Amino acid sequence: ETTLTPDDFLVPLFVTEGKGIKEEIPSMPNYFRLSLDNLEKEVKELWKMGLCSVLLFVKVDDKLKDNKGTEALNPNGLMQRAVKTVKNACPQMLVMTDVALDPFSSYGHDGIVAEGQILNDETAELLAEMSVSHAKAGADFVAPSDMMDGRIFEMRTLLEDEGHHDVGIMSYSAKYASAFYGPFRDALDSAPVDLKDVPKDKKTYQMDYANREEAIKETMMDVDEGADIVMVKPGLCYLDIVRDIKNAVNIPVSVYQVSGEYAMIKAAAEKGWLDHDAVVLEQTYAIKRAGADLIASYFAKDVVKLIS
Ligand code: PBG
Repeated sequence: ETTLTPDDFLVPLFVTEGKGIKEEIPSMPNYFRLSLDNLEKEVKELWKMGLCSVLLFVKVDDKLKDNKGTEALNPNGLMQRAVKTVKNACPQMLVMTDVALDPFSSYGHDGIVAEGQILNDETAELLAEMSVSHAKAGADFVAPSDMMDGRIFEMRTLLEDEGHHDVGIMSYSAKYASAFYGPFRDALDSAPVDLKDVPKDKKTYQMDYANREEAIKETMMDVDEGADIVMVKPGLCYLDIVRDIKNAVNIPVSVYQVSGEYAMIKAAAEKGWLDHDAVVLEQTYAIKRAGADLIASYFAKDVVKLIS
């Protein structure tokens, strides 16, 4: 009933400044931050394996971070250069960019912080500008992972106004406030900081894991505002939501199997407590079976090797 192929996958990639850099992320064994030269090598390898879509994230120097993520709009910023690098190396690779403030935020939040709160609407406007900047660099899709309300409308409107009619939006629509994002925050050094007047967690914008109906509501709002692909995140704990949303929308549904899900399997396999390859395949099939049209996964290369 269910099959996996290389084009089911979006490959998340972590990009860092420098040359010749391939740094393993301690909480994500065998996953790396890559400098642009190594990014080029990596996408060529992915393309040969049939993996034809990447989702880019950048690690930003602390010195460049501020409350408004100003560096995110730098036309020569790391993300903008990363998009160009991938497109030069592999013109047909589908390039998706992460749109959110947290890698650029001195507070580690996806939105602007003011008096202990996140400014939703001001942030949505900034995210729209960020989308246009990525589109100018050559992104095929922008992928807002922030969960501000109304940002899909702002992004679609500004992309249209600026002539980027062909740039798609993959919206993180049902993104839960999850403890499974820890290793990703290590990878980008993007965890919320522990300061007075800064929210300690992301629970005012990411969803409560006790909620199910809300996921449909959030997703339908994004569809109405112009999303081309919607997403459920994390994966394994939320497969009921994946099925509900697959049944509710008529656009592709993506699922993000997140860093903590990756780390759990790696840790158990290192101890010899689980069969790595068998568990990876079982979980990936389960995500597809639940209704995923696309799967963002750190195991993409492993799975492609296992199924071919
Ligand atoms: C933040 C963002 C996160 C992830 C993707 N984008 C973490 C967070 O919301 O704090 C997590 C991905 C993963 O854990 O693999 N905009």
